[in-house]
Amino acid sequence: MIITSEEDLAALKRIGRIVGLTIQEMARHLEPGIITAELDDIGRKFLDSHGARSAPEIVYTFPGATCISVNDQAAHGIPGPQIVQRGDLVNIDVSAELDGFFADSGASFTVPPVTPQAQLLVDSTREALHKALGVARAGLPIQMVGRLVENFAKDRGFTIIRNLGGHGIGRKLHEEPSFIPHFYDRTEKRRFVDGTVLTIEPFLSNGATDVIEQADGWTLQTPNGELSAQFEHTMVITRGKPILLTAV
Ligand code: CO
Ligand code: CO
Repeated sequence: MIITSEEDLAALKRIGRIVGLTIQEMARHLEPGIITAELDDIGRKFLDSHGARSAPEIVYTFPGATCISVNDQAAHGIPGPQIVQRGDLVNIDVSAELDGFFADSGASFTVPPVTPQAQLLVDSTREALHKALGVARAGLPIQMVGRLVENFAKDRGFTIIRNLGGHGIGRKLHEEPSFIPHFYDRTEKRRFVDGTVLTIEPFLSNGATDVIEQADGWTLQTPNGELSAQFEHTMVITRGKPILLTAV
């Protein structure tokens, strides 16, 4: 959506903050021995207590309140009996709705001790998102995000998962502009428009360039056990820095 009033912005800030705090609350409980279904339950209760509803549940009937993806699972991991282990890389992605407005955020965490490469992957992915925010500005080509993120990942020795992208959001979980690439796409000709609400959410990997849907119909996994990390914020595009709605 494109924001047209202060009320729009205030409503988006409300749900954005709840989403950001939900991830924080879940991450606080992330430790060896917890099962991902318990983590999801913590997220669900937090959303409930703030009057928000899980977006994947109400929009896609996803079997969980949040997406929890471990190691080679990149996205849409189903919370369940999986036990979090030392050395795991865990992605928590929360999207939710309040008063008809949606926000979406994700972050990857390491469960120590992890390999230096896994830690570098997570740190680099966080940094890639922050670099991308610098070119997410009204009037600039959307292509610049992917060029910058892909070059940065390459410099660190990592790949971009190309079949997952950012997206418009606001009145729906997924809306225009569709698929914002995190790789350099020379055919991408759109420009950022002032007031647009969207996500940027780079997925970096130690080798994978695509994810594959698993037999459960949800989990998106790398093909050969490669790790994946993701960081995502929902933001409003402006003529200056984007307004981050899910940063807490
Ligand atoms: Co998300
Ligand atoms: Co998203």
